[in-house]
Amino acid sequence: MKRIFILKASTARTDNKFTIKDLPGTSGRLDVVCRCILSSLLLSEGHRPDTIFYAVLEGPPRPSITVEVNGEKIENLPRDELKVALILKELLDPEKTPDTVSGFKLMNKGFQDIVEEKLCESETYFLHRAGKNINEVLSGFPNLKRPQLTFILGDHIGLNQNDIKYLVEMGIKPISLGPKEYLGSHCISLIQEKLNRVIKKKK
Ligand SMILES: C[S@@+](CC[C@H](N)C(=O)[O-])C[C@H]1O[C@@H](n2cnc3c(N)ncnc32)[C@H](O)[C@@H]1O
Repeated sequence: MKRIFILKASTARTDNKFTIKDLPGTSGRLDVVCRCILSSLLLSEGHRPDTIFYAVLEGPPRPSITVEVNGEKIENLPRDELKVALILKELLDPEKTPDTVSGFKLMNKGFQDIVEEKLCESETYFLHRAGKNINEVLSGFPNLKRPQLTFILGDHIGLNQNDIKYLVEMGIKPISLGPKEYLGSHCISLIQEKLNRVIKKKK
């Protein structure tokens, strides 16, 4: 069972003109992307081969670019945000074309491209406080028709009304972790933990 996360990073820069010293202030919040990469994939020892993370970078100067981080293909996942940011800095250098680095890959795909691709092959939800209780959704887990689960979430700004309208029109349902608003990276950790429990129960 693959777990897939799609983060819409609405301000994240699409080149490498940011400084590691002031990542939040110079990168359009790529720090949020790095944090979400780590919460999707990192374990206390090693990383999760069952998870693929996507960040759709929509900031200047050449939106949109999608970063894929595939747990099955990673050799060594850095254990801190700034080291992840250094990998992104290398990948996003417009002068060079190393579009893959050990499990990390850049793709010329936008939000709708990646959502529609995953919708064809997985049970897909978007994260929203006003959605259906995730525990109820996951209790139907053994009956899932497709072998993958995809969760779409917003960054520090959140999904806007147009995003939500589009997702609902695509038939994608909102699911909620409760009335409190969490950081995206915390939402990912909570979902990973909940999935561990249902997947264990199923076995
Ligand atoms: C930091 S929050 C976004 C905050 C932003 N001010 C907003 O109004 O959406 C980042 C993302 O985490 C997800 N999220 C946060 N809290 C949630 C909750 N309680 N249930 C489901 N998703 C949640 C949403 O997808 C949200 O876009």
